[in-house]
Amino acid sequence: MSDSEVLPVTSVLPPPIEMAGPRRILSGMQPTSDSLHLGNYIGAARQWVELQQNFEALFFVADLHALTVNPDPALLRERTRRTAAQYLAAGIDPSKSILFVQSQVPQHAELGWLLQCQTGFGEASRMTQFKDKSARLAAGEAAGGGPTVGLFAYPMLMAADILLYDSAYVPVGEDQRQHLELTRDIAERLNARFGAGTAVVPKPYIQKETAKIQDLQNPAAKMSKSSSGGRGVVWLLEPPKAAIKAIKAAVTDADPDYRVFYDPETKPGISNLLSIFSAVTGLPIADIAAEYDGRGYGYLKVDLAQAVSSFLIPFQERANMYLSDPVQLDAILADGAARAAAIAEPVLERIYDRFGLLRPNYGRLNVPAPGLATLDGGAGIVG
Ligand code: TYM
Repeated sequence: MSDSEVLPVTSVLPPPIEMAGPRRILSGMQPTSDSLHLGNYIGAARQWVELQQNFEALFFVADLHALTVNPDPALLRERTRRTAAQYLAAGIDPSKSILFVQSQVPQHAELGWLLQCQTGFGEASRMTQFKDKSARLAAGEAAGGGPTVGLFAYPMLMAADILLYDSAYVPVGEDQRQHLELTRDIAERLNARFGAGTAVVPKPYIQKETAKIQDLQNPAAKMSKSSSGGRGVVWLLEPPKAAIKAIKAAVTDADPDYRVFYDPETKPGISNLLSIFSAVTGLPIADIAAEYDGRGYGYLKVDLAQAVSSFLIPFQERANMYLSDPVQLDAILADGAARAAAIAEPVLERIYDRFGLLRPNYGRLNVPAPGLATLDGGAGIVG
């Protein structure tokens, strides 16, 4: 084909929709445990609640991501509702934010495929979460067998979650930074290959002091859903007594003078307790540090345990209220999915079109009119 025969790069669609501007945010969590933990709340959900006041916000339960570790179906369904109920208990307001379940908006999986085709194998292989998780699975810790292709493709699905809404900011904890950098790289690649305005390049929104809540038993490691010991994790839905016990047993830093100040390098244990204290009470870290400096660390731990328990009790009441009415909860999520899809669909159409995928004239998600379904009106194409 000569140059003159190359089809013009025209589109049946209008030019890219106006970008949403810097005011749209999106984030999500995986429903991979019966309860979220304090790290999820402090590192992410707490920020979400504040941000929803000033941004157009979308928060979702990342159930498709949870499939990468092959969960039991009944458990996945239950944990999806539990995760959504905890978002609501944390203060996500469905009249302000769009709250939904990822699998109820099919555009996520669709865009995920396109982005897999735009990501290098080597690039995806460098994701540290993939390397850690696949090593753990390979070591036989999971009931469902070794690492899946889905686990490898996970970061491209996450990029799709973000780009699908032209998101400007993504509020997450520090452990998600590498995935966000990959998302930014993919977005820039799309703009270079398919033209400016194909994707909005999102920015991470990671707050310094709360980005990484550490395991109470091992302040060198992050508090994590997969922490095997369990004693270093505060679960939001566990009986407050257990949280009190975990905090009182927290590992602190050896210091004969019981100095209390915020410095994660030299005082990882104490800095972690200060971050938690500040997050659950709203008091500034400096004030808490001044209050407990030089006194035994036991005082700090006893008061923190009390503060966490006072936070957990009403949180759990709210979560249980939502969980006691699954019909209503499912209705909130269905409404959120419809609102999310209304934003996602034109963005996906724009990207499909930019990629050169031929768009159907009857509308992508509509069932075609009878007679259009097959070339011969339904009898099947005879070869
Ligand atoms: P997930 O489910 O592992 O964690 C949910 C959120 O909690 C944050 N977090 C922490 N923050 C501080 N300290 C900790 N110890 C701690 N542990 C977890 C995480 O950084 C995260 O913000 N891949 C994501 C889910 C996801 C997503 C997305 C997020 C899928 N698609 C699109 C944002 C945008 C994940 O596994 O998070």
